Amino acid sequence: MASYEGFADLERDGWSDDQISANYVGMFSSASDLAIPAILSEIKEPARVLDLCCGQGNVTEALLHAGFQAIGADFSATMLAHARERLPRGEFVEADAQDLPFEDATFDAVTCSFGLMHVPDQPQALREIRRVLGPEGRFIMTSWCGPDVSPAFQVFYGSVQEHSHASVKMPDSPDFHQYADASMAMSLLAEAGLQLETQRQVDCYWRLETPQALAEIFNKGAPRGGYLLTQQPEANRIAIKEAVTAKVQESFADGNRWRVPIPASLVVAKAI
Ligand SMILES: C[S@@+](CC[C@H](N)C(=O)[O-])C[C@H]1O[C@@H](n2cnc3c(N)ncnc32)[C@H](O)[C@@H]1O
Repeated sequence: MASYEGFADLERDGWSDDQISANYVGMFSSASDLAIPAILSEIKEPARVLDLCCGQGNVTEALLHAGFQAIGADFSATMLAHARERLPRGEFVEADAQDLPFEDATFDAVTCSFGLMHVPDQPQALREIRRVLGPEGRFIMTSWCGPDVSPAFQVFYGSVQEHSHASVKMPDSPDFHQYADASMAMSLLAEAGLQLETQRQVDCYWRLETPQALAEIFNKGAPRGGYLLTQQPEANRIAIKEAVTAKVQESFADGNRWRVPIPASLVVAKAI
């Protein structure tokens, strides 16, 4: 595996930061919540489910309400504090996806809602997911589609490209959008003993009260977006935010709000 040390630090520091975590929950996650019905629709039998990278526990909560036996796991104590506040009687474990503290074949299903793309060693995380799944166990994950189809990422990456200072570089990381490509997802999953069953798009979006809000979601509610903006000299940061705002104003007005689509990719795989 390439060395993703800088990326690993950025993710670990970001998700343990009180402000970024609170802003993810308060600002970003209204879009991730919209994928929950699609995730749940893929778990049909009464099942023991691990909700990996559970964050604030939105999917864990939905699983419990639907009658499944669910446990949430995340490496961030800060995000888990949000989950425990939301579900005081829920079961949550602090754990890294690359080294899960569960016996082999403990679960009938593993969900991972917008989590795997934040993990540095994804082949290892997928092997861990496969290991804790029982025979015929199912893995259901979501990630964000890339700028080829995602208006939100077109606007954000496009504005960064136009106005970023040449000195600002993201640390090397796995492709953030690779699970939106079915053939890429199939081969990554296959290496871990998981067979792709379905990959499809799920419509998620933000309904924003101001056109400025999109830049703030990326700036304050996500470690990578925040890094790309906070590393900029002030003039570049302002120019990026203004460009994002202008694009939102131009293309996404919806009554007295702004509706920005951020489509997700749902991937379902079976343990083989
Ligand atoms: C984008 S949030 C998703 C939260 C929630 N599942 C949702 O759908 O909104 C990503 C979550 O993955 C967690 N995470 C990132 N890397 C992880 C790792 N290596 N092991 C466990 N959790 C990780 C973060 O702490 C964060 O809570």
